[in-house]
Amino acid sequence: MEKHYLLAPGPTPIPPEVLLTMAKPIIHHRAPAYEKILQEVREGLKYIFQTKKEVLIFTSSGTGAMEGTVTNTLCPGDKAIVVEGGKFGERWADICRAYGVKAQVLPVEWGKGIDPGWIARALKEDPSIKAVFTQATETSTGVLYPIQEIAGIVSHYPGTIMVVDAISHLGAVELPMDEWKLDVVVAGSQKALMLPPGLSFAALSDKAWEFVDQSTLPKFYFDFKKELKNLTQNQNAYTPAISLVVGLAESLRKIKEEGLENIFTRHAKLAKATRAAMLALGLQLYAPQAYSNALTAVVAPPGVDGQKVVKILRDKHNLTIAGGQDQAKGKIFRIAHLGYVDQFDIIMGVAAVEMTLKELGYAVEMGKGVRAAMEVLIKDGS
Ligand SMILES: Cc1ncc(COP(=O)(O)O)c(C=O)c1O
Repeated sequence: MEKHYLLAPGPTPIPPEVLLTMAKPIIHHRAPAYEKILQEVREGLKYIFQTKKEVLIFTSSGTGAMEGTVTNTLCPGDKAIVVEGGKFGERWADICRAYGVKAQVLPVEWGKGIDPGWIARALKEDPSIKAVFTQATETSTGVLYPIQEIAGIVSHYPGTIMVVDAISHLGAVELPMDEWKLDVVVAGSQKALMLPPGLSFAALSDKAWEFVDQSTLPKFYFDFKKELKNLTQNQNAYTPAISLVVGLAESLRKIKEEGLENIFTRHAKLAKATRAAMLALGLQLYAPQAYSNALTAVVAPPGVDGQKVVKILRDKHNLTIAGGQDQAKGKIFRIAHLGYVDQFDIIMGVAAVEMTLKELGYAVEMGKGVRAAMEVLIKDGS
């Protein structure tokens, strides 16, 4: 028998109720039944984004909404600051360059957090900068960026928007869009929204919509104005991924039922347990100071190849986690506690990591990580 487990930072596990909903016969997207679902989804998305604004829905992976954000808010030759401390920061810079936006990269050492003062200085030096692009959680390193503080700085510049890629963050870790004055928040379906990949989302503040009015970069499928016009009539501009939207209605219902605050607390608890387990095993965290509660990046112990940890977990124990990318390849492994994950998933994951490390010759005192995780879970759960 083979039973598979998924603790990767996307795609993430999907609740059975959501899977079953998506398996129902397809409905037509120009029919009242779909419009009713979309109306419900619009409200649910506003709840999870913590915004009064509409949340646009696209049929694409998260990168689609990232690209759309650049092409809908900026003009050729515009300048932008890109916080680049991992793979996904690089993606913002790549998209900017592809469209002739001058990306001024703020390099961040992988695994390290950032000082919001850097952004303050950069904007002071050049107030003509049109946008600040960042991640909330940089998934490739497990780092959490100080979004509230950065947004507070950007909000003083009427000609600059604060753009947050919250693809691996939204719905797992606090990010109140309106309260924190975030101008664009981007998300994807395959993370804390507990769905398969295939939907991306973007929500824009009034300030960002003013940028959309001025934007001259080319766009067609990802035309935010066109999508907004359709959405307010409970329509999508083009054929949507109907089954995914139907599944989204169900996952949003589950999110509402649990409540955002409880969801954030659950993620914080699972993350804390995972960190405690890894430290108890004598391992180091890749982001020891600025860690996110969406995933935990762990430094592979000396002499152990991080990629091998991932491979053995997958091939021998049927557990999928993630390895390191680029400069972190082989050096780290990443355990996600993102979305439809509970305490026993973490205990199972930690146990599998212990067994794998032992198999790779690392001196593990079996059960030490599991015990540390359980202690956190019992204490924080009571
Ligand atoms: C923070 C972040 N940004 C962007 C992406 C890219 O999203 P996608 O692969 O859905 O295009 C990911 C995916 O892992 C991510 O975690």
